[in-house]
Amino acid sequence: MKLRGTMKINSKGHLEIGGCDSVWLAEKFGTPLYVLDEEYFRSQCRAYRQELAGLYPDSTVIYASKALMTSAVCNIIHQEGLGLDVVSGGELYTAFQAGFPPAKIFFHGNNKSLEELHMALEYGVGYVVVDNRYELENLNRLALKRGTKAKILFRITPGIEAHTHSYTQTGQQDSKFGLGILDGVAEEVISQALSLPGVEVVGLHCHIGSQIFGIEPYGMAVKVMFDFLEKMRVKTGFVASMLDMGGGLGVVYHEGDEPATVKECVALIAETVRQEAGARDYPLPHLVLEPGRSLVAEAGTTLYTIGSIKEIPNIRWYVAVDGGMADNPRVALYQAEYEGLLANKAKQQPDKLVTVTGKCCESGDMLIWDIQLADPKPGDIFAVFTTGAYNYSMASNYNRLPRPAMVLVNQGEADLIVTRETYKDLIALDRIPDRLRNSSVLV
Ligand code: LLP
Repeated sequence: MKLRGTMKINSKGHLEIGGCDSVWLAEKFGTPLYVLDEEYFRSQCRAYRQELAGLYPDSTVIYASKALMTSAVCNIIHQEGLGLDVVSGGELYTAFQAGFPPAKIFFHGNNKSLEELHMALEYGVGYVVVDNRYELENLNRLALKRGTKAKILFRITPGIEAHTHSYTQTGQQDSKFGLGILDGVAEEVISQALSLPGVEVVGLHCHIGSQIFGIEPYGMAVKVMFDFLEKMRVKTGFVASMLDMGGGLGVVYHEGDEPATVKECVALIAETVRQEAGARDYPLPHLVLEPGRSLVAEAGTTLYTIGSIKEIPNIRWYVAVDGGMADNPRVALYQAEYEGLLANKAKQQPDKLVTVTGKCCESGDMLIWDIQLADPKPGDIFAVFTTGAYNYSMASNYNRLPRPAMVLVNQGEADLIVTRETYKDLIALDRIPDRLRNSSVLV
């Protein structure tokens, strides 16, 4: 199994991440614990930025914060010179409170509320990526009321199906996102927008899906976008000054996962944009890429403590950990396959085939169906790799499990960036109406 980022096995035979012994991390901060490898996260940010800037200087990389959003993460992203993609008032609020420059924020979402649009204008976000006509009309009205003009991109559905789980495909025509090219809606709504005084149409956006391994669909998407841009130029005179090709590059969850590299993906997109623009004599637009998972997923590891172990003779060994679908719903949702090891026995040969399960009251609460572990025992620390994206951000309090803490590790230092929820936090928002306060049994 390939170790990720700065991971090492130290002299004690323990897994080390960011120079920190993960067994020590588990003792100090408790488990389940999300561990974020700062150096690896930053190096992925730099790889994207440098590759893209090298090939296509007039460009920006923005981080799709839905993958993992915390205040400290916003600071890292800002320090690395990236912009930010937010999709809700909550993500926008987090970024704003963390001091992220609003002008570098792109506001996505297929059903932004009036409050959220108002917030975007109030904070002065750089770009609103408009998904549909309803949103366009709302935004135009709100901007006029404030006496401003909102800079917008339109989210386009290019009609491309990337090979990934159907729940994470977003570019095909039958999608809840964006304006279709094939059905003519994109043309209609953009033409309408060009005459609205409250918005300035800057460009177009598309996102073809997530956890994509092959890069060909990106090339196809660029072509489709330029065909459409050219059609719009001929029909309306509109020339886009910005093109956002979304995110979606896959990562390694499991042995056998072989996504294209950042370099390959960025190069293909940048080169295809140059070619397609050149072929149509179209001015080169400012190019935006908005990866999430491929920046942060492999920088994340979750540490659990093993508790009960159940043997069903001749069938299966169930090894239960102190977390599960509440901190990582991806196995239940997408049949995602993970890999990991016993952090306190990292040098030992894994020789026992087990199923690692969570502690939720649900049979589907599995972490890994079949994995070889090194003689697992209660109290061992189990590390699951590649949990940086869409784990904490999709975590829940199912079964009233408090959400885990998150620690940022780098060169032997470990800092809490999200504190562990407490039982008190769990009831903090509960209210008991007076009429229920009578504590006697009624029947
Ligand atoms: N841009 C837009 C408009 C998106 O909708 C997404 C992801 C991204 C960028 C970033 O995509 P990435 O580079 O992270 O693949 N919960 C699912 C993934 C949902 C992705 C939603 N949109 C999962 O856990 O696999």
